[in-house]
Amino acid sequence: MSTDVTKLADRWGLNPAHFWMWDRRPDRPVKADENGVVHVYGYQEVVEVYSSPAAYSSNVSAAFLGDAEAADTLNEGTLLQQDPPEHTKLRKLVSGVFTARMVAGLEPRITAITTELLDAAADGDGSELELVDALTYPMPVIVIAELLGVPQSDRVLFKKWVDQMVAAAGAMNAGEGDQQLEDADVAAAMRHVPELLDYLRHHVDERRAKPRQDLITKLVQAEVDGERLSDAAVVNFANELLVIGHATTSALLGNMLLCLDSQPEHMARLRRNPELVQGVTEETLRFLSPITGSYRVATTDTELAGVQVPKGSLVTLWLGAANRDERQFDRPYVFDPDRVPNPHIGFGRGIKFCIGAPLARLEARIAVNLLLERFPELHTHPDVPPEFLPVDNTIGVTRLLLCTG
Ligand code: HEM
Repeated sequence: MSTDVTKLADRWGLNPAHFWMWDRRPDRPVKADENGVVHVYGYQEVVEVYSSPAAYSSNVSAAFLGDAEAADTLNEGTLLQQDPPEHTKLRKLVSGVFTARMVAGLEPRITAITTELLDAAADGDGSELELVDALTYPMPVIVIAELLGVPQSDRVLFKKWVDQMVAAAGAMNAGEGDQQLEDADVAAAMRHVPELLDYLRHHVDERRAKPRQDLITKLVQAEVDGERLSDAAVVNFANELLVIGHATTSALLGNMLLCLDSQPEHMARLRRNPELVQGVTEETLRFLSPITGSYRVATTDTELAGVQVPKGSLVTLWLGAANRDERQFDRPYVFDPDRVPNPHIGFGRGIKFCIGAPLARLEARIAVNLLLERFPELHTHPDVPPEFLPVDNTIGVTRLLLCTG
């Protein structure tokens, strides 16, 4: 039995914040709510915001903390919340290290890690596979840990801290009124953040003294216009890669399986022709976008699709909705891996286009093809529905039980 992914919201209560993505289209591409938050659902309108970094700042924490200096310290060395000209400099520096060639070179290790995880998962009686624990959660974190140069012996310790960080991020993003993750969980999880940062700092010190062939060494040595990253900046960036790169890729892998499960003909075609995985990846990024929300703050009084956007407004870009805008995509509610072109904005657009996109695409290609190769039969469990992250801005499973026979 397969699961119709378009019915997930009805059947299993996928976060109500995502309902607009399914059959309830917003009647306008841009809307301001009663709290003054501006919601952008239209594709062209999201692209317009992404293309106007001067009018829409990414430094959302400065707006919320109300203290630009505190936000600067928090964001030092990280890309996501940085605006030009700082962002331009940092992105140039990091792009010189995080290259397509470096990512392509990871293929043998990603293959080995995935194979190792699938071997371990096959140890049970072999009739069921819980995909998240077995593969989609550990694989991206192990890849990033290796990329950074974390020794294999520290993997368990490292994963524990990352789990806590992800739990903290999840709890902080949880929708209002969500009782699943309480404040106490956030506090408990946040206690581990300094441990992870201290651990990374220790590695930065070590690489300055004894350089190696890893990303931390390259970041420590990288230079743009005669400037280098400070230790704090390297630590923060490593941490950013971990937190963003891990949860997002894990969500993409689960979503790909959900989409394929709901369209058995595409699963069968992919089994026959593994090259089709590229189209499946891109269409999943559009159809069941892992990152559904992205944020900006208006730096000036402006206007978007006829809606006034006062300076200081929080602007939420609903990528999941924009990726289903019928003004942009033919038959947006159809999962079509043959869609060409597929100009989805699942990785964002413009100066902040996801720097990890080549890595995520590579991990998706390897993981999904190896999984299908390993299990000639694979479908969702008829009695155990998938469980989803309880947040508005990500669609990703936290539990996905598959039958393998
Ligand atoms: C399927 C997986 C992924 C998805 C859907 C995704 C999505 C996105 C999106 C939508 C943005 C733009 C955010 C904005 O403009 O506000 C972004 C930026 C970013 N992503 Fe990803 N991402 C994924 C994987 C990764 C990975 C694997 C890494 C790193 C290892 C990564 C690191 C980053 C960073 C550092 C930025 C900020 C770039 C900048 O500000 O210049 N992402 N991502």
